[in-house]
Amino acid sequence: MSIKISPSILSADFANMGAAVSKLADWGADWVHCDVMDGMFCPNFTFGPPMIKAIRKHTRLPLDVHLMITKPERYIDKFLEAGADIITFHAEASESVEEIIDTVHRHGKLVGLVLNPNIEVNTIAKYLDMVDLIMLMGVYPGFSAQKFIPETMDKISQLKDLIGERNVQIEFDGGVSVDNVEEMEQRGLNIAVSGSFVFGAEDPQKAISSLKRAK
Ligand code: DX5
Ligand code: ZN
Repeated sequence: MSIKISPSILSADFANMGAAVSKLADWGADWVHCDVMDGMFCPNFTFGPPMIKAIRKHTRLPLDVHLMITKPERYIDKFLEAGADIITFHAEASESVEEIIDTVHRHGKLVGLVLNPNIEVNTIAKYLDMVDLIMLMGVYPGFSAQKFIPETMDKISQLKDLIGERNVQIEFDGGVSVDNVEEMEQRGLNIAVSGSFVFGAEDPQKAISSLKRAK
């Protein structure tokens, strides 16, 4: 089975978001990656629940909402009401990690923790029996089209070992391209986020299939 692709709309045209999102299913995308930034946890602002609600009407694909915000517990209900299907957040930004996991599960949705490039995979070991996925960052949160940090590659193998027999998926976000996705898949990747590689391509459909074809 090939990996899932979750294109990041951070690289789409914000003034034409409905049109951008509505094409993703035809392009072969599996999820829609929505980068939520509050200007506190990371040095950029994007959008909140109203945008999730708005794009929900333009696609049937699951909305993969990546919260790069301080104290995400304040807004989990709002993102779920808006139509989020998968919620990922950074444990160090939260004082209520287990409560967030429970809330998302009570709504029947998927939840995961995100690890910045400098955070060791062991730090989330205690949550592995509670979450559906773990997302590794290949760049520091804030912007698309940043340079992939090569040291993050090995964390996929470390995480895969730590997960063992558990049913926990591995997602990777930041700097993914046709040059590194093959190695990621060999190391155990299940879902690749891609912003600039997909939306910056002349033919985004081809870009998505090239990421999936990598073996
Ligand atoms: C970074 C975001 C990523 C980013 C990925 O802060 O969380 O999702 O948009 O973009 P690329 O694929 O261009 O690195
Ligand atoms: Zn992201």
